[in-house]
Amino acid sequence: MYLALGTWYLVLTMKTSPFGQADIPQTDKLPKVTALFNGVASRYDLMNDLMSGGLHRVWKNFLLRLIDTAAYPELLDVAGGTGDIAARFIQAGGKHALVVDPTAEMLAVGRAKHAALPIDWQKGQAEALPLPDASQRLYTISFGLRNVVDIDAALAEAARVLRPGGQYFCLEFCPEPWPDLRDIYRFYGDSIIPRLGAVVADDRAAYEYLIESIRRFPKPAALSQLLEKAGFGAVRFIPLAGGICGIHQAVRL
Ligand SMILES: C[S@@+](CC[C@H](N)C(=O)[O-])C[C@H]1O[C@@H](n2cnc3c(N)ncnc32)[C@H](O)[C@@H]1O
Repeated sequence: MYLALGTWYLVLTMKTSPFGQADIPQTDKLPKVTALFNGVASRYDLMNDLMSGGLHRVWKNFLLRLIDTAAYPELLDVAGGTGDIAARFIQAGGKHALVVDPTAEMLAVGRAKHAALPIDWQKGQAEALPLPDASQRLYTISFGLRNVVDIDAALAEAARVLRPGGQYFCLEFCPEPWPDLRDIYRFYGDSIIPRLGAVVADDRAAYEYLIESIRRFPKPAALSQLLEKAGFGAVRFIPLAGGICGIHQAVRL
């Protein structure tokens, strides 16, 4: 009797995170997500180009155009993976970037690819950054926030490491594009992406996860509210590609 009650108490109070179509205990998500990205790391950049028809480059370049690298020469790029944002930041005039990501293979691919650039690579997760309070002035997270275990904790941690006035940028897919694109977007997500994942990365499940993680991510207005709750102001959302993805920009208050 007590054992059954105790089990129910644990089930009801256990914190969960979305993973694909399931909700899993929060403690299980990070190992699952890092295993998934470790598995696709060597094909990750190629898959990005194939899946987006090269558009991810346009979106990332657009993000960089919002950043004043002269005023903000140091970047913290969280969930930085193979370093696409960090490398663009340096090419745009930035002096130094720190990529933080929990997946060893993604970091290894990035480190080898951008060895000549002033980028440091550190293992760590968005919810527990290995950095002191108020030590950063510029924070980016690109196609990373939907992968974290706990979005609120990741935003709180961004607010902790940024100084007042610090800039926050999140580039991310949106769960629903504008109405005219919804049917084709759904078809693309259900039929094309998993097939590409199977053929190119030999991992259909990883790319099915990717689609579900997009569908379950908060809508832009909801994410703006979470940012405000976490201590950010001047929050604005810039939709890209008919609302397929977009950029949240905010200032640490
Ligand atoms: C889709 S990739 C994005 C990589 C890169 N930012 C880009 O735009 O190409 C997502 C990245 O999020 C990382 N990630 C997963 N869970 C994370 C967490 N809890 N904190 C920080 N990064 C995480 C993964 O290791 C992976 O490198």
